[in-house]
Amino acid sequence: MSGRLRVGVVGLGIGFQHLSAFRKLPELYELAAVCDPIEAKRDLAVGLLGVERGFESFDEMLASGGLDVVDVCTPPDLHRPMVTRALESGCHVISEKPLSGSLADVDAIADCERKSERRLMPIFQYRFGRGIERLRRLLEAGVAGTPYVASVETFWRRGADYYAAEWRGRYATELGGICISHAIHSHDLLQSLLGPVERVFAHVDTRVNPIETEDCAVATLRFRSGALATLTATLGSARESSRLRLSCEHLSAESSTRPYQPGSEPWTFEAMTPKDEAAIDAALRDFEPGPELYEGQFSALHRALERGEDPPVTVADARASIELVTAIYHSSRTGEPVDLPLGAEHPLYEGWVPDASDDT
Ligand SMILES: NC(=O)c1ccc[n+]([C@@H]2O[C@H](COP(=O)([O-])OP(=O)(O)OC[C@H]3O[C@@H](n4cnc5c(N)ncnc54)[C@H](O)[C@@H]3O)[C@@H](O)[C@H]2O)c1
Repeated sequence: MSGRLRVGVVGLGIGFQHLSAFRKLPELYELAAVCDPIEAKRDLAVGLLGVERGFESFDEMLASGGLDVVDVCTPPDLHRPMVTRALESGCHVISEKPLSGSLADVDAIADCERKSERRLMPIFQYRFGRGIERLRRLLEAGVAGTPYVASVETFWRRGADYYAAEWRGRYATELGGICISHAIHSHDLLQSLLGPVERVFAHVDTRVNPIETEDCAVATLRFRSGALATLTATLGSARESSRLRLSCEHLSAESSTRPYQPGSEPWTFEAMTPKDEAAIDAALRDFEPGPELYEGQFSALHRALERGEDPPVTVADARASIELVTAIYHSSRTGEPVDLPLGAEHPLYEGWVPDASDDT
């Protein structure tokens, strides 16, 4: 595989931001198609952004052929069916988060990807930020030393206007609340830095909006490495912020508090000793910042496909994030800690939608 990839974007909400990112990478991607039932959105994409064709239905877009990549940006309940159909039709696939609403669905999607011999890349665009990339380098080079503890805060604000969209706030369509939809980004950042989670204890509740799904959550985690972490998330914060803090053997790392760019600069790294400081400087001296956010993730995907490598974010990464959500919900409902990994024997493996007859 080489050259420009012809991409079709389905779902034109956040899909417009995807289109803007692809447009910044004209040597890598051609804007071949968009699909959305809303004509005005298709017209905007074709007329203003120069997309070749607009389609009202997903079937029509797939049947038209000539796409290398299908980029799924529809509401969450449509991700699994659209992702699997696109893989089966012979396209590589990008999927917005959350990839699906259960471990069973993720495992079925992984199976479909394997059989298709195409690649699927779930979106976690905050991983592509210069701050988080520098910290990853310090951890991988051993300069940070052993991670001791971390805390992650997702203090966002969502109200009636946001929940006016029919699909939001409902298990059937959004698949869950703040854990699967909003805090999933910063929690993924932490998991991408610290590796597999071993034990979770959590509380979730709906305290801000009159919705079915949770909008506040707290959790404590123990990672397999021994590192400990706390997660705090709300959709009822007057001031919006996201923040990650890590305390390691040789340094403390802290993100900015910009709510929608937790991986980007400015991050601060404070060394324990002057020797540690020199090691940090040496490790970061030749760090070359690449494009960030969606642009960064899409350019890394193109490179990976060209080289026949794994996508920069894999189905296994999405599985880890959904496994954490499963554990958080189960712990909150049972009042017990949950030990990971979770397989087909787990009571919430098939999904976490509460049973109407069960008030736990
Ligand atoms: N990564 C991020 O930072 C980020 C940010 C926002 C949203 N998202 C995710 O993106 C997805 C979409 O969210 P949104 O905020 O853009 O929603 P939205 O409601 O603003 O837009 C969804 C679009 O999908 C279209 N659509 C619905 N059914 C369709 C179908 N069958 N075929 C084609 N198009 C269809 C709708 O007409 C609408 O234009 C969700 O999974 C959400 O979690 C991710």
